[in-house]
Amino acid sequence: MEKERHIRIFDTTLRDGEQSPGVALSLDQKLEIAQALARLNVDIIEAGFPVSGPMEFEAVRRIATEVKGPIIAALARTHTLDIDQAAKALEKAEKPRIHVFTSASKVHLQYMLRKTEEEVLEMADRMVRYARRYVDDVEFSAQDVMRADWEFVKRLYEVAIEAGATTINIPDTTGYGTPQEYGALIRRIRDEVVRGGDVIISTHTHDDLGMATANALAGVENGAGQIECTINGIGERAGNCALEEVVMALYVRRDWYKAYTQINTREIYRVSRLVERYTGMPVPPNKAIVGDNAFAHESGIHQDGVIKHRATYEIMDAELIGRRPAVLVLGKHSGRAAFKKALEDLGYKDLSEEELKKLFARFKEIAEKKGPLSAEELQALVESEREPTSHFFQLERVQFFSGSGLLPTATVQVKTPDGERLATHTGDGPVDAVFKAIQEAIGLRPELELYRVEAITGSTEALGQVTVRLRLGELQAVGVGVSPDIIEASALAFLDAAGKLASGRATRHPPSIEEVHRGV
Ligand code: KIV
Ligand code: ZN
Repeated sequence: MEKERHIRIFDTTLRDGEQSPGVALSLDQKLEIAQALARLNVDIIEAGFPVSGPMEFEAVRRIATEVKGPIIAALARTHTLDIDQAAKALEKAEKPRIHVFTSASKVHLQYMLRKTEEEVLEMADRMVRYARRYVDDVEFSAQDVMRADWEFVKRLYEVAIEAGATTINIPDTTGYGTPQEYGALIRRIRDEVVRGGDVIISTHTHDDLGMATANALAGVENGAGQIECTINGIGERAGNCALEEVVMALYVRRDWYKAYTQINTREIYRVSRLVERYTGMPVPPNKAIVGDNAFAHESGIHQDGVIKHRATYEIMDAELIGRRPAVLVLGKHSGRAAFKKALEDLGYKDLSEEELKKLFARFKEIAEKKGPLSAEELQALVESEREPTSHFFQLERVQFFSGSGLLPTATVQVKTPDGERLATHTGDGPVDAVFKAIQEAIGLRPELELYRVEAITGSTEALGQVTVRLRLGELQAVGVGVSPDIIEASALAFLDAAGKLASGRATRHPPSIEEVHRGV
């Protein structure tokens, strides 16, 4: 019988994922995501690109120091400074990995690296050896392999292996390859470069043509032992291969791939929501595995089938990825013990007494206004209240009036570190008036870059969740507010983001690899 292979999951949400346009994660958020990835049991967390800036360095250093379990990887170009910085940031990691990368295609060599093939080969050789002086685990990548000449690709990876690379990663940087081509490339690397050695081949696929997941899986079928991916498939341009998709494809079709991962699938949904919330990048409703509709059945025939037997139209159980059925679980008469138990069932087992007290008070307040809360609403409530960076400014009161023929006007009362502030403002609509009043109250005028309203369970009685992204100069912050009243949720979201800006917990969008090359 064919032996099943273990496929390593290399998560790059915090490095490639953070390159998504508009995304800027704070240090606390990165740490929390890294802890969630460790609970998910990924094999490797790529924590960042330390040389690209002091914030990036510090994030890698903190993750390497505090997150236990997975290998912690840091990205570095084929430059000594990059490798020194990566090694320094990884000093406290239990299992450090330096990920050294260069480029393989002619267009990259000519315009980005401005180097000849011989120079790139020489640098790859020297820098992989240099990285090996710091750590035993060195990964080597060459960008844009899919559009490069085979003879050069072969020489480059041979040089890297000879110099000590233990994993070779094959990036389709521009998302150009088809599954057949990419699979054939991985096979060729296995047969003509690795030739039975114990070096691990890794896939790294982008989704420009919507083929990132198919390409990664084609890589697995042809010998890859590691997949690089991100939560919700976020990343540069159209994003990366989505972790939840490859993991569940390997889980559900283990019979076909003869391969498995060590992922704790029941954590998938929670991490997906966390990343959605912190990045402000919404998951489309039809997104495989984690989208709102991924387990919804609309047509009569489908509903009828699922009622008779779930397997008629479902290939996996929603529970398997940690999604709970949208049933009403708790109402205003529920006690603290029932509340605690419901949160434990949702996976929140590590809440402190203080957190529980605050959450319970907020839950009661909401349940009084809107009635019982569903599991998804409870989850949204916990996530919005738990974030360590919020509550710098606190909303005491918001009032507004608007309607046909009326000038929308809002009054807010906000608790700031300097005391209570009250302000009234008019606006183009109630939300605009509230935001202007808040700006006056807190004395900060950030630019609103994103405003999104969602009903958590899709009915008019549902809790509303508002996400805003604010910018102040170079700094950005995402804030989320949850309330049965969407104007109040908007005010909470604005204050959450503004609080991060004011308390120095905001961050800036990381420079792209290309910008780092240009020294921007
Ligand atoms: O897409 C890419 O080529 C990359 C490399 C740095 C691995 O992200
Ligand atoms: Zn990439």
